[in-house]
Amino acid sequence: MKLIAIAVVAANGVIGDGHDQPFKFPEDWARFKQVTMGHPMIMGRRTHDAMGLLPGRTSIVVTRSPSLVEFPLDADGRPRGVAVDSIDRALEVASRLDDVVFVIGGGQIYHQMLPLVDELDITEVHAEAEGGVRFPDIDPQIWVEVAREPHGVFDFVRYERDVRLG
Ligand SMILES: NC(=O)c1ccc[n+]([C@@H]2O[C@H](COP(=O)([O-])OP(=O)(O)OC[C@H]3O[C@@H](n4cnc5c(N)ncnc54)[C@H](OP(=O)(O)O)[C@@H]3O)[C@@H](O)[C@H]2O)c1
Repeated sequence: MKLIAIAVVAANGVIGDGHDQPFKFPEDWARFKQVTMGHPMIMGRRTHDAMGLLPGRTSIVVTRSPSLVEFPLDADGRPRGVAVDSIDRALEVASRLDDVVFVIGGGQIYHQMLPLVDELDITEVHAEAEGGVRFPDIDPQIWVEVAREPHGVFDFVRYERDVRLG
């Protein structure tokens, strides 16, 4: 299973204030939708609360209180998401659904899952933001930039683990 973390990150590493994201670019949101469509998405409960359900993608919500998270049903009567009480359990559920799985935040989940992630898909914004939630440092000893697409005020950047580290 390939695990990809996807995030919009300010020049100072900020991704949010605990409730919302500092940047919302229509072009980035459209790309997020296109890239993640059809794949499961692992997220923290706070990010789920902020974003709600996104069509066409199963939400796997990590929380210490799974029974408190409710999901609407799809046309076949199945819940449109699943709440799990650990990251291990999220990975177990995701691996049964697809070979490609996205980690979509927020801060707590990125920090805990970065050591497990295979790729980073980062919208790097050329401006700082205010907020207490940050993306973990992208250590150049671990991550190699493999693609960069400039789009004015931000770049779409992809990183892979440095294979020389094994
Ligand atoms: N810029 C971006 O790309 C981006 C993307 C996503 C989110 N964000 C921003 O990030 C912020 C939210 O991030 P956050 O760090 O505050 O919260 P978060 O990571 O979304 O969710 C935290 C919650 O996840 C659960 N959790 C975390 N680790 C767990 C574990 N090991 N086992 C079980 N449950 C666990 C807990 O839920 P319970 O409290 O229910 O137990 C915890 O309160 C918001 O500002 C949001 O807008 C930004």
